[in-house]
Formats: sequence, structure tokens, C-alpha cells
Amino acid sequence: MPSLANDNFINNHTTYSITTSFINQANINQVKFDELNQKAHNNYEEFWGELAHTKISWHKPFTTTLNNTKAPFYKWFEDGVLNVSYNCLDRHLRSKAHKTAIIFEADDGAITKITYQELHTKVCQFANGLKSIGVKSGDRVIVYMNNSIEAIIAMQSIARIGAIHSVVFGGFSSIALADRIIDAKAEYIITVNGYHRGGKLIELKKMVDEALINIDKNIHQIKHTIIHNRTPDLNTKITPHQDIWWNDVVDNQDKECIPEWVTSEHPLFILYTSGSTGKPKGILHTSGGYLLGTIVTMEWVFDYKDTDCYWCTADVGWITGHSYICYGPLAVGATQVIFEGIPTYPSADRFWQMIERHKVTTFYTAPTAIRNLIKLGATLPKNHNLSSLRLLGSVGEPINPEAWKWYYEVVGNSKCPIVDTWWQTETGCNMLSPIPGVQALKPGSCVSPIPGIMAVIIDENGNSIKPGESGYLVITKPFPSQLRTIWNADDKFIKTYYPQDIADGRYYIAGDSAQLDTDGYFWILGRIDDVLNVSGHRLGTMEIESAITMHPSIAEAAVVGKPHAIKGEGIFAFVVCKKDSSIKDLSQDDKTTLTNQINAIISKEIGAIAKIDEIKFVEGLPKTRSGKIMRRLLRNIVRGEEITQDISTLENPAIINTLKL
Ligand code: PRX
Repeated sequence: MPSLANDNFINNHTTYSITTSFINQANINQVKFDELNQKAHNNYEEFWGELAHTKISWHKPFTTTLNNTKAPFYKWFEDGVLNVSYNCLDRHLRSKAHKTAIIFEADDGAITKITYQELHTKVCQFANGLKSIGVKSGDRVIVYMNNSIEAIIAMQSIARIGAIHSVVFGGFSSIALADRIIDAKAEYIITVNGYHRGGKLIELKKMVDEALINIDKNIHQIKHTIIHNRTPDLNTKITPHQDIWWNDVVDNQDKECIPEWVTSEHPLFILYTSGSTGKPKGILHTSGGYLLGTIVTMEWVFDYKDTDCYWCTADVGWITGHSYICYGPLAVGATQVIFEGIPTYPSADRFWQMIERHKVTTFYTAPTAIRNLIKLGATLPKNHNLSSLRLLGSVGEPINPEAWKWYYEVVGNSKCPIVDTWWQTETGCNMLSPIPGVQALKPGSCVSPIPGIMAVIIDENGNSIKPGESGYLVITKPFPSQLRTIWNADDKFIKTYYPQDIADGRYYIAGDSAQLDTDGYFWILGRIDDVLNVSGHRLGTMEIESAITMHPSIAEAAVVGKPHAIKGEGIFAFVVCKKDSSIKDLSQDDKTTLTNQINAIISKEIGAIAKIDEIKFVEGLPKTRSGKIMRRLLRNIVRGEEITQDISTLENPAIINTLKL
């Protein structure tokens, strides 16, 4: 880990204080904040235990808060019995049955609203339907759908019967889908025939069919695919006995479904995410701890009030859509907006129109969307009445100060705090974030860990770093919402998140480097592993490289991230052709053709989100004598940085000059 002492960096930030009117109404004020932190430091288990007792409706309350006898396989509230869907729906029915739970806005602008009572009924019927086709507690069910009320019904129903969902983002290809089905050994798939996103028809059922062709039936068999008929005029291929229409599943089902009462550590979902290896990891979250994390962050970070209209623009296929669409907002009984489309369709002011139309109070989006909206119409928010907004959020990647200031001034009219939330698929809920009624903001900083999260920045030996130096961001104590393991890979879980070479494996290693400034504010610098963050989407370099080398003319490839004005990070590939297709003979046209072919393979293997932005055909890659590709050198090259590393140990030092851009 290079130590980057940088005085300019740590001393040069404007601070934005929170308005008095926000402070006066905030759920957490300075006194409460201090109390929470003090309690968490003095009696960590009691702190989380009390919260879990008060925030969750238990069928049978727990008696043990934390079991760490098999660390790092921590167990929280282990003997407590609950159901997550009950906590998101049933418990609101007495006081909020007729409150709107979801305002769904379709790509074409059609609006559907559903109350808590109606959502409860639909979830019960679908849950009963799932049981009627054989889905049992513990079974894995893939959800491959559009952002929709039905996706939420599917996830909530699966949770209601104690089954485990694994949502696959609709932008992933059929091969990526097949990999996840096989790894999770899922026997059921819930999908949609087709839907429109940005005006474009996306036919997910066809992708499911393609995925199933790729799965050897002797290895794994899918029992049923359930299809939501989102686009009735589409000619949808139905395989008799295997495929079932959603409506047939719910037809005549009882409107009540007694939840499956499960223990707190019962698996809730698996969500695949990219790491440093070629294969995505199935991150496993369980019930009680995860639910608690989403609830407290809704209250503390998003300052949730019963009168709010909450809108998280994420897709349910990512962790943000799980925690801040499917679970957190419903668990606190919020009214929320769910959007099927994209920010720029049919025009670049779609988000601002929607905030005005639905009187959104709390708006949570990603820096890449903000940068894109600035580019396409920095003044467009001014044409809309956005006065309902009271809190803004950012997630997924570092937000650059220019984008932050625009978001703050133009969208939030300089009155809405921005909660820049750092967290991960693995952490389940926000970990670092300003608590908006308490902490002043600095554009680009996630400020500090929320109460109860013991995050610090350390060097390899576990010593805290000084302000201005960079180090590993780690979490020193187990926390309720953290992943429990990697599905079917306990060893990999330990090696990845509790590696021996950093602080002797005592801490959760996030995989990010970070710095502190002299005020103790946290600044995330980026990943320390071979993971890219492209438009807030997490992609492994090895996944992309293995797709590139599937091209018959390609011998080797190395992928690195290159700073990109909109996406945050773009994908840059160094590609070596096989000897018999020497690059010396490649014309510009050949290179273009090869690039297109490579991108077609990537789209097929992973999905269009992983397509390469820039490619350089080279004669070789810089490698150590043991054959390891020196990616750091490649990163230096694409960023135009000086190479300070000793390159004499390279197997082929002369190659460096041929790689320069
Ligand atoms: O590098 C960090 C970055 O996104 C990674 C986690 O990606 P994923 O599991 O896909 O979850 C994204 C949504 C929670 C982190 O390791 N990241 C996330 N939020 C921020 C961030 N980097 C800087 N600032 C953030 N607010």
C-alpha cells in the first residue's frame, strides 16, 4: 500500500454546515448521536441487542445477541425467530393499511400505486402460488426482472416462505445468468417476457431460455420458470410444464399466507458480485441482522419520516435495490417511488419531472447519473419545482466535488444535506455516511462510520494511519448486516475478507483504500484489488479478460480502469494477438473489427455493461519473472502517471516503451 501523504488533499476542502431547520427536525441530533456512539463503544453487544429488540417485530425474541465462537462466521440474534416479509408488510397493516407503499412509474410514464394492504395481499397470493408449485424453505429462486412492483412482490414472497432469492440484474447476459443459476443450484426462475427501458424492448424470457440451453440437464435442472406478462402483445415462447404465467401462479390463491417463521440466521438472499477472480461470488445475507441494518440506516442516514416520499433510483438487481427499495423502505413503512426506466428518457429532465410529480422528499442516486445529467442539461432542474426535496443521497463510487456541488446547489437548492454513503454488497447497508442532522459535509467525503460501525484505516500491520496517508479501510468488529459467507465457498470467504496478511486476519477488509483528513473525515480512494467500478457497477478485471481471450485471435489481455468523465472509471484493455495474427499486420480496419468482435463476446459472456471503452493492441504485457501481469504499471500508463516502480525485475522491461499511449 503506497503511502500518499498529501497536505493539499487533506487541508483543502470546503465545509458545508447543515441548515438549522434541518437540524431541528432530524431524527438524530447531536445529543442522540453522542449517546449512540458512546453506547456502541461502551457496550457494543447491548447497543445492537437493544436496537434489534426495538426495531424488529420478533415472533420469538432472541436471548443471545452475538455468537462469535466460530469467528468470522458470526451469528447475530441467533435464537430469535422472525420473518422479514412480515416485518415489511404485516406489521404496518394496523396503522398504515391504506398508505401508499409504492408509486411505480413505468418507462412510458404510466403510473401505478399500491397500498400496504394491496401489496400484502399480492405477496400472500404469490407466496401461496410459489408453495403450490413446490417452492420450499431454503430453496433458491432466481429473480431476473425489470424494476417493478412485481419484482418486489417476487422478492418479498420468496422471503415470506423462507426460500432464498438470488436476483440477477437484467443487464447481465444469458451466460452470466446461467453461471449464477448453476452456482446457486436454483431450481426456480421468476422473469418477465419483455419490458421497455429507455424506449428499448428488453426480452428477458428469451435470455432465460438461452441460459437454460447452456445448462447441461445432467448437471442441473430447473423445475419452473414463472413469467410476468409485462408485454402482452409479445410472442412469448412457452415450454409446457416448465413455464408458468405469473397470473396462473396467483390465480385462486388465498389472500393470506402465514409467514414461515425462521431463525435470525436463516438465509434471506444470495447476491452475486465481482471480485478479483474470474468468477462472481455469491454473497450470502441472512435475516435478522440484515433487516436491522436497513432499518437503522433508513432512520439515521435517510432521516426517514412517515410523511416522506422516498426514491432510490437503483435497480433491484444490485444491493442498493435490495436494501433501499425492497427491504429498508418497506420495513419502516415508507411511501417510495420505483422507476422502470432511465434518467434521460424520453428527455434529460425525466428525474426532475418525477421528483416534481411525486413530491419526492428523499432522493438517492449514483454519481455517474449525476454527471450524466449535468452533461445533458445542467440547468434543467431549474425548470422544475423541486421544493419537496429535503435530503439527497449518493452511492456506489466516490463523488467528485464538482458533481457534488451541482447536486447540492442546483438539485437541492443549497438546503438539502447530501448523504454520501459508502458501503458494499457485502456490508448490506450504509457503513460510512454523514448523519445529516449532526455532521457538516465536505464534497467527496463519506464523513465517518455510522454509530455501531467500527471502521478504521490501517496499514498492513494493523496500525492506524495518520491523516493524509492512505491505508486499508477495515471494520474491526462484526456488525449485524454483514455477509455471512460466500455461497458454497467458506474458505474463499475467509481468504477474501479476513486475509492473514492484513492485521493477522482480525478485521473485515473492505477492499478499498481510504484516507483521513485532519478533521477525522473519511475519504474513499478506490479499490485495492482488481475490481473496476464502471458507472457504479462492480466488475472484475479477470472476468472481462477471460471473455476477451475467448476470441480465437487473442492470446492474452489485461484490463485496467481509466478515469472517465461520466462513468467514473472506463474499461481499458491491453490485448495481445496470437502469433499467427501478428499485430504488425493489423490495419486500422482490422483493429476496429477485432474490437467490435471482442465487445460482442463480452456482451454475450457478461453483458453490455462490461464492454471495453478503449483497446490497445500490443506485442506483450509487462510481467514479473513468475509470469504475473504487472497491472499497476498498466494503470500508471493509462492514467498518464510517471512510472516510479523498479521495472528491472520485469521479465521483459523493454516492453514498457511499446505500451505507452
Ligand atoms: O469501492 C467502493 C464503491 O463501491 C464498492 C462496492 O460496490 P458494490 O458492492 O457493487 O456496492 C455498491 C453500492 C453499495 C465499494 O467497495 N463505493 C460504494 N459507495 C461508495 C463507494 N466509493 C466511494 N464512495 C461511496 N459512497
